[in-house]
Amino acid sequence: METENDASAKLSQHEKPSILLATRNRHKTREIQIMLGEGVIVTDATEFDHLPEVEETGVTFEENSKLKAEGISLHVEGIVLADDSGLEVDALGKEPGVYSARYAGPGCTDEANTALVLKKMKGFPDEVRSARFRCVLAVAEKGVTLAVFDGTVEGMLAHEMRGEGGFGYDPIFMPLGYHQTFGELSSELKHTMSHRSRALAQFREWWKSRR
Ligand code: IMP
Repeated sequence: METENDASAKLSQHEKPSILLATRNRHKTREIQIMLGEGVIVTDATEFDHLPEVEETGVTFEENSKLKAEGISLHVEGIVLADDSGLEVDALGKEPGVYSARYAGPGCTDEANTALVLKKMKGFPDEVRSARFRCVLAVAEKGVTLAVFDGTVEGMLAHEMRGEGGFGYDPIFMPLGYHQTFGELSSELKHTMSHRSRALAQFREWWKSRR
């Protein structure tokens, strides 16, 4: 069983600076590693045995990202970054919002969540299919939030799932100015405009100014 000291040693043994992401979602880790580049090592909660499961009891992205960053940072050395993100559909009163990962029920698949949004939006014309992805990043150390960053990408919902790329709601989200979904567009293009890359650009500036 790994102890907290083992975990801290694991974080500091890397020659490059490292950041622990408070997530078990490997898609997010991969995206954030690509966006931050080779100069930093991004680890996540899947690499440690002792980290608690933080319950997302907040009703906003900011509350949940702070809960995750603060909760995990009590158990490791250094700074912890947490992302809370999701899809807001205007015609559904900004649902699924903070419930994006569990919209169709606890433990459900991305496909089930996406199918539920499409079902609720069935028959809605293009004029009322506006939506956005939001990503709020919180940085914490020793249980205290140091900064919060908010990124958004506006777009429209497609009428059916399209494309094999990305994850989550990507197959039904068309960013403004495109007729293809994030599932159809290349991941490189997604990373130039996504909610996560916009929040992360702000984090990167903050991080650079600290070092
Ligand atoms: P979280 O882990 O509570 O932040 O849940 C985020 C959920 O929002 C994910 O499970 C996805 O369903 C959705 N989501 C967040 N970012 C993206 C994205 O970039 N593409 C597609 N879906 C996303």
